[in-house]
Amino acid sequence: MLKYIRNMLNRRWDSKLFVYYIMERSIGVFDSGMGGISTLIELKKMLPNENFIYYGDSENAPYGTKTSEEILELSMSVAEKLVHRNVKAIVVACNTATSIAVKSLREKYKDIIIIGVEPALKLGIDAGAKNIMVMATNATLREKKFNKLADEYAKSCNVIKMPCPELVQIAENGFLENKDICKEQIYKYFKSYRESNIDAIVLGCTHFLFYKNYIKEFVKDGCFIVDGNLGTAKHLKNQLLRRNILNTTSSIGEIEFINSQIKKTGEIDKLELSKKIYKMFY
Ligand code: DGL
Repeated sequence: MLKYIRNMLNRRWDSKLFVYYIMERSIGVFDSGMGGISTLIELKKMLPNENFIYYGDSENAPYGTKTSEEILELSMSVAEKLVHRNVKAIVVACNTATSIAVKSLREKYKDIIIIGVEPALKLGIDAGAKNIMVMATNATLREKKFNKLADEYAKSCNVIKMPCPELVQIAENGFLENKDICKEQIYKYFKSYRESNIDAIVLGCTHFLFYKNYIKEFVKDGCFIVDGNLGTAKHLKNQLLRRNILNTTSSIGEIEFINSQIKKTGEIDKLELSKKIYKMFY
């Protein structure tokens, strides 16, 4: 028996086995709540064999109307929980948290791949758009990271900043299927821009991907609607390949959903809602 245990311990440190052990570790994905599920879907399509842990911080949603200090603290705390779950990578599936916390996360967790999402302004420009509306949270739009990006492109296009906090709340409250509520809100954003020839919309908040079909109804034909989720998935895959920790097992990976909600009477169950949204949009 002792000999068996000694052999097992030795095997564990065999380098191939060790790599195998790392590649099977999960990938942590987090957001203030439901939004990051749009990113998770793209990640799962590109990396079906990986195991994912999705952490929605609905108890603290929305992030986008909080101070930078609060957003930093919340993001660091969620990441710590994922690190305790021994993840090999963390995807910050939230533009708001990325713009404020990704640098600190990379400094703190040097051995873990940290990937962020940011408004895909470049995709709009590459499509030749001249008037680009960026729909995002108040925090993303006020942060240095976004404004630096917008300044870089200021010569080639006109950037219209559109904060849409209500779209975060509608998704968090489980009303994505309610066409009237969704369309009424989107109409309010777009009504004063009807004459302004917008030729690209950047979905700069992961919650807003769920509204893509509704948004299409308010923009002219040929207007591009772009987001950064595919780029994020490609970036993650490249990083996993570079470190040789891509999960190459043939079985389909699992997804574990976690939500920080402390459920109050009458409140919708956010964990159930997460699973429902995943199924609705996959
Ligand atoms: N989904 C998030 C983003 O991409 C934030 C939404 C919020 O909590 O305000 O920015």
